[in-house]
Amino acid sequence: MKKIKTCIFPVAGLGSRFLPATKSIPKEMLVVVDKPLIQYAVEEAKAAGIERFIFVTSQGKSAIEDHFDSSPVLEETLRKRGKNVEVERLEALRLDPGQAIYIRQQAPLGLGHAVLCAQHLVNEDAFALILADDLVLAETPCLQQMIQEYNPQDGNMVGVMEVPMEQTNRYGILDVFQNKGEKVLARNVVEKPSLEKSPSNIAIIGRYILNQSIFGYLKNQTPGAGGEIQLTDAIQAMIKEVPLCGYRYKGQRFDCGTKEGWLEANLAFAFEQPDLRINLQKNLQKYFSFSENKKEGKQKECA
Ligand code: G1P
Repeated sequence: MKKIKTCIFPVAGLGSRFLPATKSIPKEMLVVVDKPLIQYAVEEAKAAGIERFIFVTSQGKSAIEDHFDSSPVLEETLRKRGKNVEVERLEALRLDPGQAIYIRQQAPLGLGHAVLCAQHLVNEDAFALILADDLVLAETPCLQQMIQEYNPQDGNMVGVMEVPMEQTNRYGILDVFQNKGEKVLARNVVEKPSLEKSPSNIAIIGRYILNQSIFGYLKNQTPGAGGEIQLTDAIQAMIKEVPLCGYRYKGQRFDCGTKEGWLEANLAFAFEQPDLRINLQKNLQKYFSFSENKKEGKQKECA
């Protein structure tokens, strides 16, 4: 089986749910504990064996390029000050020369259009796609799990999770006809269906392995949900030719495109770090009591 070497990272979105924080920084640069979201995504791709990292960017996103570039002045200064651990951390996040490719989506026409922008850069039969605001905490990184299980006969593979029925209108939803262990086979897929019209509660998260013939379908795709060119619609359009397989990954996914999800991700990832864990546990209780007291008019020092 051929290796999957290319991963696309659509990073052109506005991040309007996080304004004003995202007015001058890309939403993918929002930090969870000590790393920006896009770094988690790139590390996940690296762990899965990805060698080409294609970022589909837009205006105002140059901080992402800088993040994965070398920073000679900073590194030299740190070295002179003996801060070798910090230097190593910077070196580790740098991508090898030629591995990172940045292209622009010139108009916000949707996820499907963003993927189409990378067409000329993908030469393999199948490629991966990660949406950085879906952060997954897992023992084996999510994309690695998928690549291990992927078989070209699966066609397109998407990471899936079960969501509450009242949230189906936030996701691409699979109409499943067969469960095969971790894999589910879909006869259809629909983008952001209402509760009444949703075929199931099996939702796509931002992890995909896509057959490269998807580009031909994306080219002909008319706007769908939200007036945007939807990736899900192209997956649906090709489903008879290229089947769709959902993969129930093992791990906890956080929707860092929302404040709740981002906050939860910070807590979950901080609890993974022993040096943060103990104080965090104590302090959470303290702040909770503080806000409860405040509600009841019993304002106390939060010290
Ligand atoms: C996108 C996809 C959707 C998927 C979701 C996962 O939606 O279009 O199918 O379920 O990501 O996060 P968005 O969140 O960009 O609206």
